[in-house]
Amino acid sequence: MNEHARPHTVSERADELEEEMMHQLADKIATRSTLFYLGDGTVAYDSGEALLAVNPGKHFLMGADPRLPKMPAKPTLIDFFKARFATTAHLLQSATHALKGGQPEKVVLACLLHDIGVASFIRCDHGYWGAQMIEPYVDEEVAWAVRMHQALRFFPDPSVGYEYPEMYRKLFGDDYKPEPYIVAEYERARNHKWYMTSRLITMNDIYSFDPNAKVNLDDFADIIGRNFRQPKEGLGLDNSPSAHMWRTLMWPTRFL
Ligand SMILES: [Fe+2]
Ligand SMILES: [Fe+2]
Repeated sequence: MNEHARPHTVSERADELEEEMMHQLADKIATRSTLFYLGDGTVAYDSGEALLAVNPGKHFLMGADPRLPKMPAKPTLIDFFKARFATTAHLLQSATHALKGGQPEKVVLACLLHDIGVASFIRCDHGYWGAQMIEPYVDEEVAWAVRMHQALRFFPDPSVGYEYPEMYRKLFGDDYKPEPYIVAEYERARNHKWYMTSRLITMNDIYSFDPNAKVNLDDFADIIGRNFRQPKEGLGLDNSPSAHMWRTLMWPTRFL
């Protein structure tokens, strides 16, 4: 039988049903953004009309998605760490490394936040996304350092003992070369007064994760309290230039 023509197995059908249910919650319909589909290699779009036609009497989700961990009414950065960041061990290990190395609080905070773009949102250009998310709430130097770590991690600095990460050879192959915009960014960062702050992110970046390391978000509550301006309305419910990014994380399947 032709591979493409064979009937679906029971488990394939079960997967399909689960998929359908994922989009249909009790009385609401959750939708996926184009970006979610692009990640599966498809350029696709959930058509509102078509979904309403197969879900008579239902409406689209316009707020919290009940399948996701509940967020409080006025979320803090720590709430996002707990309920929306898919992985925090790397961030905590890097920040712990910086703390043990006696780095200033700004650097510890930058290490704690350097990969929130990838932990919560998207891999591509994660340094830029992460920097933009935190920019209204942290010292300018912290956001700058997070942005520039995107480029700096690819370039060694023998003066401080930073080598090209062995892990990158494994991940990207020996022949990988950063794109010209990354090289240009590195050159700008290299001559900037805050270069070393960003370089310290790359130096405290833990490229080999220790599954047994004891790390705890509570250890950083005071540093966050002193260095991250938590908006009183809740992170994402304020009117900062990046509030919409936090809201989107909070309500990723809202129809519009
Ligand atoms: Fe990173
Ligand atoms: Fe990292």
